[in-house]
Amino acid sequence: MDLTQLPAGVTAVADHGLPAFAVDTPACTATVHLHGAHVTAWTPEGSAPVLYLSPEARFSPGTAIRGGVPICFPWFGPGRDGDLSPSHGPVRLTEWEPLDVQRDGDDVRLTFGLTAPVARSIAPDAPYPAVGLSYVVTLGRELDLALTIHALADADVEAALHTYLAVEDVRTTSIAGLEGASYLDKVTGDETGPQEGAVRFAGETDRVYDASGTVALDDGARRLEVSSEGGTKTVVWNPWSEKAASMGDLPDDAWTRFVCIETAAVHDGPIVVPAGAQHTLRQRINPTAV
Ligand code: BG6
Repeated sequence: MDLTQLPAGVTAVADHGLPAFAVDTPACTATVHLHGAHVTAWTPEGSAPVLYLSPEARFSPGTAIRGGVPICFPWFGPGRDGDLSPSHGPVRLTEWEPLDVQRDGDDVRLTFGLTAPVARSIAPDAPYPAVGLSYVVTLGRELDLALTIHALADADVEAALHTYLAVEDVRTTSIAGLEGASYLDKVTGDETGPQEGAVRFAGETDRVYDASGTVALDDGARRLEVSSEGGTKTVVWNPWSEKAASMGDLPDDAWTRFVCIETAAVHDGPIVVPAGAQHTLRQRINPTAV
């Protein structure tokens, strides 16, 4: 597409040395990198930044950006048999193709695409299915993320929109909407639950909830509604102090300032798409008054 013909409020820029779209409208400011089709910043008008981006995030080809919204595909973590790399799949490690940029009132809609050959070139030894991906990012007062899998042959894949949400302090943050759901606790390895009351944080938290729908994060300063469609699970992750200290792209004290809420189709709830069909995994984030 012609990047010199962009609608008002959208500019093609280099951000941290990589190509990106910068959005500045009455509804929001935002940055979306072509690398990983990664939304790295979104600040709705009148709000503090909604997404957490590590100040030590690495921006370079072949590397995942720590923060914002990484896309995990076609496997999650090391995959269902635990033997795949790179972690969370190759699509967050490579540049996607910008296909379309539209302005609709105060909303900006960016569409990206990634073909199987390009994704395969990142991890040639790993199994990558015959699928094309498109990703529509709508940036306004709400953030709407829609990842569509276009199956060229029967596909059985994992996927997640791995959103890092900025919070005042994870220790005083809660997530409502998962009450009653069972979950895999990846810290202990146990199938656990049901979840009693809101999710609160008192240590490393890495859970795959058997639930998909709308949850609400409250950190005392702001309430964020996170809605999921087309997935089977909700992943909640915070590394806490010890694990954060071992991560090279995160300051040691940064673990207090984010929680990941991930719209996911992973483990025993993958996305199965017959040849010729498509499936969309969607997450919407809506800041509401406390
Ligand atoms: C979460 C996983 O989704 O992502 C965690 O549940 C993992 O187990 C975390 O540690 C971060 O993964 P990565 O590969 O971005 O460091």
